Amino acid sequence: MKTSEIKLGVNIDHCATLREARYRNNHNINAKIIEPNLVEMALAAEEAGSDGITIHLREDRRHIQVDDVWQIRESIQTRLNLEMAPTDEMIEFAKNIKPAFVCLVPENRQEITTEGGLDIVSHKERIRTVISEMKTAGIKTSLFIDPHPQQIEMAAELQSPFIELHTGSFANAYYDSDLKYKELEKLCNAAKIAHEFGIVVNAGHGINYTNISEVKNIPWLYELNIGHSIVSRSLSVGMHAAVTEMKKLIKG
Ligand code: PXP
Repeated sequence: MKTSEIKLGVNIDHCATLREARYRNNHNINAKIIEPNLVEMALAAEEAGSDGITIHLREDRRHIQVDDVWQIRESIQTRLNLEMAPTDEMIEFAKNIKPAFVCLVPENRQEITTEGGLDIVSHKERIRTVISEMKTAGIKTSLFIDPHPQQIEMAAELQSPFIELHTGSFANAYYDSDLKYKELEKLCNAAKIAHEFGIVVNAGHGINYTNISEVKNIPWLYELNIGHSIVSRSLSVGMHAAVTEMKKLIKG
């Protein structure tokens, strides 16, 4: 899918990271004073033009908690994109929460290719089951995968409606100009292959206010999911301004 404007999903996990730095195991102290308030941050992102809110409920609950997912789901006006590991527990949780999207991500060692996306080639039957169960529940699945043709072909075989290309290797290589362009080329090729299969292409991880100028030129992008850089910028200028700036760079 190509729209005139690439959409922006704001990942607010790191707002929860900051909260947990102080309040882990002490959420009942007094709900009013617990900060930062995730719903407030999500609503500020939306007000500034975010097209969706992304959160990752991890098995170790290191940042987002179950209550956060419910509260955000009930408060936002846009779309909730729930990142999750393809576990039985998370499948049941997603069916109850009913986000617009789930994005399947690796969480533990047997689910990852080295520092990369979900290895859907090795776990194809598991992923097939999750996509099918989500579809029955009216939830669209995205797969967070490395930009390797083999992974894209498997996403097509599994009839995943969306993928999210892992931009981490590109972001890490950003200051090595040879490597950077190799990584960018992999992303561009992967996006083209996915598009030819009719898969909608998202991308995310490590995207910031500098590398966005190149990331946004990956063909056929539907949505970018950006977390750390926006949350970090929000500490200086506030969430509304941080999202406004990123939207401007995406459009520019
Ligand atoms: N997309 C996915 C699937 C992620 O898991 C994350 C967070 O780790 C992001 C996007 C956002 O990455 P970042 O915080 O580096 O912008």
